[in-house]
Amino acid sequence: MQPKGGVTFRFPPQSKTWWHIRRFMESPAPAACTIALTQAVTISQALVEMKVSKPDFPARALISRARPVVIGHRGCCAIAPENTLPSFKLGLDAGADLIELDYHLSKDGIPIVIHDATFDRTTDARKRWGKSRLRIGDRTADEIAALDAGSWFDARFAGVRVPRLAEALEFIQRGGGVPLIEHKSGRAETCVKLLRERGWINRVVVISFDWSYLREFHQLEPRQLLGALGPPTRIAGGRRSRVASRRLSVGWLDRLAETGAKILVWNRLVSEAAMERAHRRGLKVWVYTVNDPELAIRLAGRGADGIITNEVAAIRKAMSSMAGSRS
Ligand code: G3P
Ligand code: CA
Repeated sequence: MQPKGGVTFRFPPQSKTWWHIRRFMESPAPAACTIALTQAVTISQALVEMKVSKPDFPARALISRARPVVIGHRGCCAIAPENTLPSFKLGLDAGADLIELDYHLSKDGIPIVIHDATFDRTTDARKRWGKSRLRIGDRTADEIAALDAGSWFDARFAGVRVPRLAEALEFIQRGGGVPLIEHKSGRAETCVKLLRERGWINRVVVISFDWSYLREFHQLEPRQLLGALGPPTRIAGGRRSRVASRRLSVGWLDRLAETGAKILVWNRLVSEAAMERAHRRGLKVWVYTVNDPELAIRLAGRGADGIITNEVAAIRKAMSSMAGSRS
């Protein structure tokens, strides 16, 4: 329908709204009234469309870039204690497009940003609680908040806390980055609930070595952009995977199709042919963990769409030096 002024209505011709408008416009109402109604409907529809289609999916926008994206591994863990707010800040300052972090669930079911299943390596838990090898799920989020997650790395970071996932995601986005959330434990519904409640669907990317978790996530929230880390610890459907090869093979690509993931996040054992096969299936390929700029350039030359690194500044510089050399 093309009313005066050249603005097009986007109501489906079968819709009720369309039917009412047509009825009104075909009635003998004064022309001025028809025009006023036309304009009012056009404006309100435009507002609805702006809301529906506003470009609020930074995660999807990132994966359509020509230049490979640079992903800060656990923030910028070469120069700051991993998975902490200072590490995320330094990663953003160094030019990371995405900030990767890991989460486990606390005893009271709250997602907590930490890599290992136990506290010992990256906190003062053993000293504070007099026990080693305590698991993340053995303590509540409030108890974990009392830990020092910075001193083990350098005295300059003494007193830095283990962040909750929600706090970390907010911090990274406020700093202009896109969080890359790596699931380490817990069911998909916990993360889906958090992202929905905070309006963060597709403002983040979610990845896991557990392809069963990915499939569950995809079934619960098909809009969310997912990445499959490989080789997996568990394949979709629940079976523990017996890793035949750490190389990216057609077999792994077939398995990946069961997860709903659009990004393949693989180790460095990705040949150019494997990269091409993944691309032909419409997948993006990100590679971990690459700290050598020359290797990053070689991988990007083979077609890698993203590099996960501890050395954000150096890899960012290397990727920028390639600008224009890829379509
Ligand atoms: O995100 C990729 C990479 O982080 C996977 O290894 O051990 O750091 O979780 P890891
Ligand atoms: Ca990780």
